[in-house]
Amino acid sequence: MRRRTEAQASNSEAVNADRKDPDQRLHSQAAAEGRVSYSSVLTIVGKCLLLIIFIPPFLNYASLQREGQMLLPKDGQIVDVGLGQKMHLLCKGQGRPVVILDAPAGMSSDVWLHVQESVATLTKVCTYDRMGLGFSKRLMQNETTGTEKVWGMSTTGRMVDDLHRLLQAAEIAKPFILVGSELGTLNGRFYSHIHDVQVSDLVLIDPIPEDVFEDDQWKEYWYGKLLPSLQTRQFSAATGLSRMLIILGVIEPTIKGENVSEEVIQRQKYLLSNPAHQSSAVDEHYFLNESAAQVRDITQFKPLSSRTSVSVITGDSFDQQIPQHLNQMVAKLQKTFLEESYSSANHIHIKGADRRMIYNKPSAISQHLRKLVNQRQAKQQSE
Ligand SMILES: *[C@@H]1O[C@H](CO)[C@@H](O)[C@H](O)[C@H]1NC(C)=O
Ligand SMILES: *[C@@H]1O[C@H](CO)[C@@H](O)[C@H](O)[C@H]1NC(C)=O
Ligand SMILES: *[C@@H]1O[C@H](CO)[C@@H](O)[C@H](O)[C@H]1NC(C)=O
Repeated sequence: MRRRTEAQASNSEAVNADRKDPDQRLHSQAAAEGRVSYSSVLTIVGKCLLLIIFIPPFLNYASLQREGQMLLPKDGQIVDVGLGQKMHLLCKGQGRPVVILDAPAGMSSDVWLHVQESVATLTKVCTYDRMGLGFSKRLMQNETTGTEKVWGMSTTGRMVDDLHRLLQAAEIAKPFILVGSELGTLNGRFYSHIHDVQVSDLVLIDPIPEDVFEDDQWKEYWYGKLLPSLQTRQFSAATGLSRMLIILGVIEPTIKGENVSEEVIQRQKYLLSNPAHQSSAVDEHYFLNESAAQVRDITQFKPLSSRTSVSVITGDSFDQQIPQHLNQMVAKLQKTFLEESYSSANHIHIKGADRRMIYNKPSAISQHLRKLVNQRQAKQQSE
């Protein structure tokens, strides 16, 4: 280093014929060189940081574009429900009555995979993605349906309006069997109370009691624990971190096992890395208290028709991963609202199950739905 500087110094001395003291010149040149290398190191570090910050989200977005086209289910249809909205509907099987499946908060139609396959051997079974989830894109800010003044985005009233327009546009035969899980039960109840002639049977799996958000400990769990974890997931998806963690095997799809196809696994990975889907999942959870309040109002305002049969499916607890006292509170409130609003409901208990039963213990649910379908089909034939 020293030798090279000397060589350079003598070189420039010859060329420039500088009159400065050689020692001084040497010193200032070395200092300049030090500055240069220091700042170039900074530049390199800066560039690396930029790469680390910008490349993963960029790659993620590029991949999402491609996967969004590739992973759309083959049987799925994108239905124009009017007012600029398009929704993803996935029907399997043939016949009547049609069974409509509505998923828990933040989940796409894939969550019904096993139930849908099993019931589709008897009749037509449809799942769909609520707005913003899965393959149903969220509305642009400038597009409006006019209903958002009454029911805010990501609340039950709005979801039911969307579902109603979807079923009309897709010309789904009525009356149908409407099945909801968790948030889906709020939607199912709201729908059945408003459009009761369209629903022959209402099936509530792990219903959310409308009064649950009046409990402070529940609110603390929902808004203090569950929601922040979903927000972290949204952030992680937006930064491309989720995609890296999925590649590294740190994050895994929820629905897996020997009977889950590679396509369904890929689709879940796509949605885990998709910030639009994750952000809608956050919104649905955030507004769940509003949704519950809407259902309480509608239930009081307009009781369910006595012609609609109601059945309720619950497991040992609402969620095995939350504290026992919360589960007990949910169970108590479930009992109260069922007695008050659906006193003739048929109650089915599934041993060892919780809110994950629709993909972990699907056979007990399918069995009940098949029974309902058989009963309705027998009635149709006798008429
Ligand atoms: C809303 O805005 C988007 C993008 O700015 C545009 O492509 C779309 O056509 C607009 N929709 C309406 C209904 O104006
Ligand atoms: C997978 O499907 C087969 C045939 O349908 C069934 O016998 C088996 O129990 C299923 N396995 C699981 C884990 O669901
Ligand atoms: C729902 O919770 C949010 C945030 O905690 C609150 O601002 C809002 O008033 C609640 N809505 C209802 C209907 O309780």
